[in-house]
Amino acid sequence: MSSLKNLLSPIKIKTLQLANRVVLPPMGTNLGNADGTVSEANLAYLKRMARGGAGLIIVEVCAVHPSGPSINSELGVHDDRFIPGLKKLTEIAHTAGSKIALQLHHAGRESLYLLQQKKAIAPSPIRSLVFGLTPREMTLDEIHEIIAAFGDAAVRARKAGFDAVEVHGAHGYLLTQFLSALSNQRSDEYGGSLANRSRFIMEVLREVRKRVGEDFPISLRISAEEFIKGGYKVEDIQPILPDFLKAGADMIHASLGTHGSPGGITSAPIEYEPGFNVWRAKKVKEAVNVPVIAVGRFVDPNLADEVIGRGEADLVAFGRQFLTDPDFLTKAREGRPEDIRKCIACNQGCIERLILGEGTIRCAINPETGQETVYQQGPAAVRRNVWVVGAGPGGLTAAYEAARLGHRVTLFEKEKTTGGQLRFASKSPFKSAYEEWGVWLTSQVKKKGATVRTGTEVTERMIEEGNPDAVILATGGEKSIPSIPGINLPMVCDAWQVLSGEVTPRGQVVVIGGGLIGMETADYLLQKGTQVTLVEALKHSPVLKITSHGYMLHTRLRDGKCKLLFSTEVKKIEEGSITTLCEGEEQILSPVDQVVIAVGLKPREDLKKILQTRGIPHFVIGDAAQPRRIMEATEEGAKAAWNL
Ligand SMILES: Cc1cc2nc3c(=O)[nH]c(=O)nc-3n(C[C@H](O)[C@H](O)[C@H](O)COP(=O)(O)OP(=O)(O)OC[C@H]3O[C@@H](n4cnc5c(N)ncnc54)[C@H](O)[C@@H]3O)c2cc1C
Ligand SMILES: Cc1cc2nc3c(=O)[nH]c(=O)nc-3n(C[C@H](O)[C@H](O)[C@H](O)COP(=O)(O)O)c2cc1C
Repeated sequence: MSSLKNLLSPIKIKTLQLANRVVLPPMGTNLGNADGTVSEANLAYLKRMARGGAGLIIVEVCAVHPSGPSINSELGVHDDRFIPGLKKLTEIAHTAGSKIALQLHHAGRESLYLLQQKKAIAPSPIRSLVFGLTPREMTLDEIHEIIAAFGDAAVRARKAGFDAVEVHGAHGYLLTQFLSALSNQRSDEYGGSLANRSRFIMEVLREVRKRVGEDFPISLRISAEEFIKGGYKVEDIQPILPDFLKAGADMIHASLGTHGSPGGITSAPIEYEPGFNVWRAKKVKEAVNVPVIAVGRFVDPNLADEVIGRGEADLVAFGRQFLTDPDFLTKAREGRPEDIRKCIACNQGCIERLILGEGTIRCAINPETGQETVYQQGPAAVRRNVWVVGAGPGGLTAAYEAARLGHRVTLFEKEKTTGGQLRFASKSPFKSAYEEWGVWLTSQVKKKGATVRTGTEVTERMIEEGNPDAVILATGGEKSIPSIPGINLPMVCDAWQVLSGEVTPRGQVVVIGGGLIGMETADYLLQKGTQVTLVEALKHSPVLKITSHGYMLHTRLRDGKCKLLFSTEVKKIEEGSITTLCEGEEQILSPVDQVVIAVGLKPREDLKKILQTRGIPHFVIGDAAQPRRIMEATEEGAKAAWNL
């Protein structure tokens, strides 16, 4: 175990002394009030995060102008009425011993609701890559108004007690839109050459500097590379970085990517190694003489310590790792790294809920995050004898939470090992972290004092005899078997048999079902060099390319030359061939050596009846209630435990 001497060493940003080099980077939570003021949920969330001991906390995107929020409830700093709420955030951070900066933001064209109202503005009328709608070109007067708004916002931030501000020049928002030749086609002094395209950022920095005075630190967040076809690379912007310092920046936060970057690289999926983006921070550092923050898939404080030790960056931001385990730094400091819950970069609770559903921030594997106002601290008023049936993600989470609250918990699992579907979900490329999380959670369940009984199938009789006070049924879904002629032939197996290694398909393989399980099974087989055809009755896969994991999965299947047959039903399986129906046309696929069924799961009904008959309080959670994903299973497991 390293001493973390680099990561835990203090650092000065201009006049600002930070206790250590850990940064909680800005992360939009969507927890704010509808009018953009700070809510109780914002405060509870920040309080929890601040307990983690980061040297610097950078609060999420905060709109500097009414034309700037990316979502309508984004926090605002474009009026004095926002100051009292923001002040409460700064007090929380200061009480916890952290310094706190506010991220000053204007979304430009990347605001769906403003695009829909035809109110979104941008350097040029070029459509948003994400939303497909076109903004209005900013007039020169508007450019000057927004520059002034950044200055006003910085003054308000200072009044609210912030120790610094961060100008958001990254991720394809307004400042990047000016910098990038892909989104800026102006013919005036704000467009054209790199010097002209960077003028807007320079003027924002100068204005902020002028308004806050010389002593107040300003961080500039940039995307060190746009990570999009035709976009700028770090080498392209290296020459202008010193000018950003002259204009007022005291620190560079070297992020990555833009809206529309393939695979959501800004919050990179599991395919990217921890610290994969450090080399760009290093390139930024070569061009400037101020502190540089590295960011990108950091989960391990030791790696961050090494990066700083090697001089590749001066500070390290841990984004999603804070959501997954706000106490990771404390655990590392106390010499118990094995207790750290590591982010699996699934992006389900954080990015996807925010982008796809306009939900509030969560974490798929940490039910406390984003739910701080309803999270039960415990101990429970009455200590109950609780049975949790099934040790998949839902049951493990339920058992952990119930034991944490002080209940007497027994977790039953009929298989020899815990993990449930994770045992299969972790077999496709890049997904071993899912199994590691299951193993970690099992150890934590035991540490919290729950009894774990593997190899024990709970039966109606056991429930009658054991008579527990409450039962959480986390038994997972039941496999769906389609009624296709030939389904019982020896050449037919299911996805779980393949992923567990029980069946090793050879030759030409047809996977029936193009949902997550089918696609992951195809991915697994392609990696082994098997030829795969995927047949799906729907027009498109339910696995959306807009999600990071979905994008990577679709890309791998395409690159692996997996034959994808959508709008296609399997009508018949025969030895050596299958018959399909696509838009009224029958086709025979041959040769076929193996058929793999992956049409999903259905809710599980067993054990419910006995619990109802005996009047035992119970909760049916996760896939047992409705087959879905990890996020829903853990959330329902935790809520069941909180409501015992
Ligand atoms: C190949 C594959 C890939 C996937 N990839 C992803 C992904 O990337 N992201 C994602 O979010 N989801 C993914 N999923 C889905 C995800 O794994 C499930 O949604 C999740 O595991 C559901 O959790 P659960 O706890 O409800 O049920 P399960 O994980 O199914 O666990 C139920 C457990 O209950 C046990 N059990 C059943 N009956 C009894 C009994 N009577 N007594 C004792 N034990 C019993 C079972 O043995 C099992 O271990 C994937 C699934 C598969 C198969
Ligand atoms: C839910 C969520 C919201 C985010 N919101 C912001 C934001 O408000 N401003 C910003 O600059 N970056 C934002 N980011 C990007 C993060 O600050 C960080 O750069 C990114 O997640 C990569 O770091 P990580 O791999 O440690 O998570 C957000 C990321 C997540 C997961």
